[in-house]
Amino acid sequence: MSTPEFPPESALAALRSLRQSRRFLPDPIAREHLEQLLEVARWTGSAKNTQPWHLIVVTDPATNQALADAGAFTAFLGGVAASIVVALEGEARSVAYDDGRLQERVMLAARALGIGSGTAWFGTAENRQQVRELLGIPAHLDPWSAIGLGYTDTSQEQASPQLSGRKPLAEIVSWERYGEH
Ligand SMILES: Cc1cc2nc3c(=O)[nH]c(=O)nc-3n(C[C@H](O)[C@H](O)[C@H](O)COP(=O)(O)O)c2cc1C
Repeated sequence: MSTPEFPPESALAALRSLRQSRRFLPDPIAREHLEQLLEVARWTGSAKNTQPWHLIVVTDPATNQALADAGAFTAFLGGVAASIVVALEGEARSVAYDDGRLQERVMLAARALGIGSGTAWFGTAENRQQVRELLGIPAHLDPWSAIGLGYTDTSQEQASPQLSGRKPLAEIVSWERYGEH
């Protein structure tokens, strides 16, 4: 048996307990920490190692407010210290997968630094056009999403009850054959 690279209990606890933050303190994030998150993002795996992304870091509050206004569920971006807009090139399913992998890594890395994070999707073509124009993103890239970052305001609720909690394992897992527990 090999020795784990990280203390398994703390790594597993961090993986299990990562939640979406939507309310943040006004404190800025140090540039060094943002750069560490970008370095983690850079090493995300992608289909055929195409790395089909361009990341735009936004720290300007007015621009983050404009991003907040560019989607149905993106309002929380109005209160972040920084956001990372993920613009991608390519076929929809593969790109959605690559986007998700990158986002989850950055969110976990943020967690390791004590920074809260939340994903925001620019759900419609109009939303994405708005973001493209706001940030000057060229036509071959589609800004599908952003990661909002900041120090979580733990005095506030981050989500409604229906956005929290999970189905029990017995409901989502079978062993050997579908329906066998
Ligand atoms: C593909 C995807 C898109 C999401 N888009 C948004 C969004 O636009 N705005 C938002 O506030 N949360 C968004 N979320 C966060 C989910 O609402 C959240 O992960 C879910 O409710 C579970 O809550 P938790 O992450 O705090 O455990 C998104 C999550 C995923 C996986």
